[in-house]
Amino acid sequence: MYLLSHSVGCLPKLATQSLDERYLSKWQQLGGDAWPLWLGIIDDFCAELGSIIGVNGRDICPQTNVSSGLTKYLQALPVNPAKNIILMHASAFPSMGFVAQALRQAGYEFELIAEHYSPRDLEQWQSQITDKTAAVLITHVHSNTGVLSPVAEISALAHNKQAKVIVDVAQSIGVVPVDVVAWQADCVLGSCVKWLCGGPGAGFMWLEPSHINDLKPVDVGWFSHADPFEFDIKHFVYADNAKRFWGGTPSIAPFATALGSLQQIKQIGVAHIAAHNRQLRQKVYHAAEPLLLSQHNLGEQGGTLCLDFKPEAMKAFVEDLKSVGAYYDQRTSILRLSLHIYNSEQQATQLVDCLRKLRL
Ligand SMILES: Cc1ncc(COP(=O)(O)O)c(C=O)c1O
Repeated sequence: MYLLSHSVGCLPKLATQSLDERYLSKWQQLGGDAWPLWLGIIDDFCAELGSIIGVNGRDICPQTNVSSGLTKYLQALPVNPAKNIILMHASAFPSMGFVAQALRQAGYEFELIAEHYSPRDLEQWQSQITDKTAAVLITHVHSNTGVLSPVAEISALAHNKQAKVIVDVAQSIGVVPVDVVAWQADCVLGSCVKWLCGGPGAGFMWLEPSHINDLKPVDVGWFSHADPFEFDIKHFVYADNAKRFWGGTPSIAPFATALGSLQQIKQIGVAHIAAHNRQLRQKVYHAAEPLLLSQHNLGEQGGTLCLDFKPEAMKAFVEDLKSVGAYYDQRTSILRLSLHIYNSEQQATQLVDCLRKLRL
């Protein structure tokens, strides 16, 4: 019973096929002449991802992971000492905070919304977004609590103060619809490793196209050049699209793998995955509710059940999960269970039976 899609999604058959047919076989057959075909993989990856989130693939740039994308984006903005605060909620993924703190050397300051405020508390966002705020990082779905942020509303508050809006969709994409246009985001960062089932290494950055020419990335390379094959060391011109954030010789294998996964997810449909997830999640949650320390409104949560069981119930349920050979994880006092399209109704019933037994 695989319940770890919030960490690493399962490997789809199409992903293995894509890696083998489009990357490894071409390398074996063509050596260095495989490059044009390999670069076609990146075009297809960006196009597939774009079609999943309703944007043009041209406005997407491959990245290694969310952290590197955040670093590159913030470094590409002009830093104004009077408007230099990077704001995020304390339950954002820690790596995002590490990036913001490291960017003190570039002139930024780092501010958190305290943990005891919900990330959904718009009044708190409003009071902390000020004229000094340069950028607001919004975590679409929080990894340890599952809380879904009201992205469009926070984004509007940030734009009222002329702050940039960056959204982290690592924990939502593939299971919660991502509506980049409705959010009015400036930058969306994510990866394919979790619900998209694309493995580690296939991160991405989407940029609002009308701002691209104002962004001057520092971490560049020949693939950030308007013409990577110009080869004039004295003449660097940024690509006129999101690829200015690309860098040196690009990695291909993670994107070849993830391309197959994206094709698989698209065939199934994110709306279908979301509906299946919602149905199984509700079923398991209702059985768990009497055993929890606090209750959730499932409409304000992402795809993962983040359950804070009473200590005795936690101990007993973990034993049950181990005995059925389930893959799950525990962060502090929270047990995380993710039900993807490959989890059956029968598995959800098995979890419900374990929970009902504990309630007696
Ligand atoms: C919300 C969120 N953001 C980001 C990450 C990972 O960041 P990175 O891709 O930089 O490792 C995770 C991983 O669990 C996450 O849950």
